[in-house]
Amino acid sequence: MMSDLTIVQLTDTHLRPAGELVHGVVDTDANLARVLTQLRAAGQHVDALVLSGDLSDNGSPEAYRRLRAAVEPVAAELGAEIVYVMGNHDERVGFGEQLLDLAPGSVDPALPHDSCVEIAGLRVIALDSTTPLRHEGRLELEQLAWLTERLRVPAPRGTLLVLHHPPIPSPMATTDFLKLEDAERLADVLAGSDVRMILCGHNHLTAAAAVAGIPVWIGPALSYRIDPMAPVGRHRGLAGFGYSRIDLVGDTMLATAIEATPAAAVYDRPEAEVLEQLAAIAARTR
Ligand SMILES: [Fe+2]
Ligand SMILES: [Fe+2]
Repeated sequence: MMSDLTIVQLTDTHLRPAGELVHGVVDTDANLARVLTQLRAAGQHVDALVLSGDLSDNGSPEAYRRLRAAVEPVAAELGAEIVYVMGNHDERVGFGEQLLDLAPGSVDPALPHDSCVEIAGLRVIALDSTTPLRHEGRLELEQLAWLTERLRVPAPRGTLLVLHHPPIPSPMATTDFLKLEDAERLADVLAGSDVRMILCGHNHLTAAAAVAGIPVWIGPALSYRIDPMAPVGRHRGLAGFGYSRIDLVGDTMLATAIEATPAAAVYDRPEAEVLEQLAAIAARTR
């Protein structure tokens, strides 16, 4: 096994009440089922599934229950922990009661669902970057103080920070409008910390940048993708979906996008045979 630790990021599942399609065309249940089937069939080691927001499309409690019923048996089979993170399409009460097992009536929608867990020595901190009824991202000063406190002591294998809204600009006006506000305040907290990567969703496209020298990964959405090279003046969503794997290989943490839109195989060969062939070529030219 190449990877010492593997996190699978599933983001922007946008599940709706049963039978409803997103934007009238996307069957997000089918997309999720396809990816979960792929994860089971792959049989690869996965330490955690990180679901980084917009888990439901409109906060429907029933959609959260369906999400949970779909994801948890697969996570159990893989031996993976699950981290549920809020997105702007989520709703704190339903999210807390249905996904986090908080007591009915106990969730204050004014308070964020932040979390911190250690998975195989990697600390995973999730920040709720949402504000009820708004789509832009925002972190309250209390959240930044809480984060500062958590980061005071480094974790054995460092920290992965998850927040739905990317703390970086976008070349597209719409996604730029919806980014995390006041990202420099977050950058100040993260500078010099053990955070190795910032994992985001929200933009429905795959992109990378850095904040305070820390890589930022925006993983592809499980629902549909936004066209980053649409004709001038147009904003368009296209069919197509994917997810990401975040691996720790030795000292390197890397993010890999996985295209999950149905596609024909170009080849499908035994890995050992390919490696043998590559070794033979390398030996000849040495
Ligand atoms: Fe989304
Ligand atoms: Fe979002």
